[in-house]
Amino acid sequence: MVSLVGLDTDEIMRIALDMAGLDEVPGDTDIHVPGKDIERVLIGIDMGTAELLLARELGYDLVIAHHPPGGRSRVNFESVVLRQIDQMVEAGVPPHVAEKALQPRLQSVRMRTHVSNYDLTVSAARLLKMPFMNIHLPLDIVCRRRFIRTIEEHVGGRKDAIVSDAIDAMMEIPEMKMGLTRPVVYVGSESNLLGRWVVAMAGGTNGGAGVAKAYFDAGYSTLFYMHLTETDRKELQGYSGAGNLVATGHMASDSVGISPFVQRLREQGLEVTPMSGVFVPEQ
Ligand SMILES: [Fe+2]
Ligand SMILES: [Fe+2]
Repeated sequence: MVSLVGLDTDEIMRIALDMAGLDEVPGDTDIHVPGKDIERVLIGIDMGTAELLLARELGYDLVIAHHPPGGRSRVNFESVVLRQIDQMVEAGVPPHVAEKALQPRLQSVRMRTHVSNYDLTVSAARLLKMPFMNIHLPLDIVCRRRFIRTIEEHVGGRKDAIVSDAIDAMMEIPEMKMGLTRPVVYVGSESNLLGRWVVAMAGGTNGGAGVAKAYFDAGYSTLFYMHLTETDRKELQGYSGAGNLVATGHMASDSVGISPFVQRLREQGLEVTPMSGVFVPEQ
């Protein structure tokens, strides 16, 4: 096989977009410092100035973060959160309900973005001349797809399936086994019927209590979120229409989307070292 080492950051971005079926770079994803002839990559979920220095110290050519480290990927983050409206509408939530349901979460994302120092890490990468990019939504799309496929394969069509059957199915994924956390049922119970379910991921961040209520009201019994705040959990526990909400575990779940990308880069001949919460099974 011909080794194809020496990719540039645009080519690496294209690989991620192709895996997700996207034509354009989404708002939460960006090349912050372009690079070419890249052979050695350090990839992690959160990558800051310390990790950029670590990469230089250890001789890497490129740092890839998952979460937006700043720059346009943080300032334009809201555009990706809006995808949750499309996901709700696809699941049968009326558009006007979906729009309203997202508003509280959207507002907190906007305020957080506005106050944040979006220049900190990307300016450090520029000063270090360290090629730096982040890939968020494309790999969350890969993650969501894998979770949906896994649950469908294990419990699809079984009317007596309970919540723990779906959790057991997720735990069959090698990246989930490598994580130190297990999915947690924050609302409802593991022994409740699974019912109609939805994997509410790949929308920037979780949709909070508002989006969860919209899904429950539309006839879904079980929601899979990657994470949830304590405030949202309390709100949902006090909601009479609530079903089950499972937080699947942040680092392990993000790895479910990132690990296939790491393997794809390795197939291209790159040396890729995962760190900072990225778990990749041995081939
Ligand atoms: Fe993610
Ligand atoms: Fe994440």
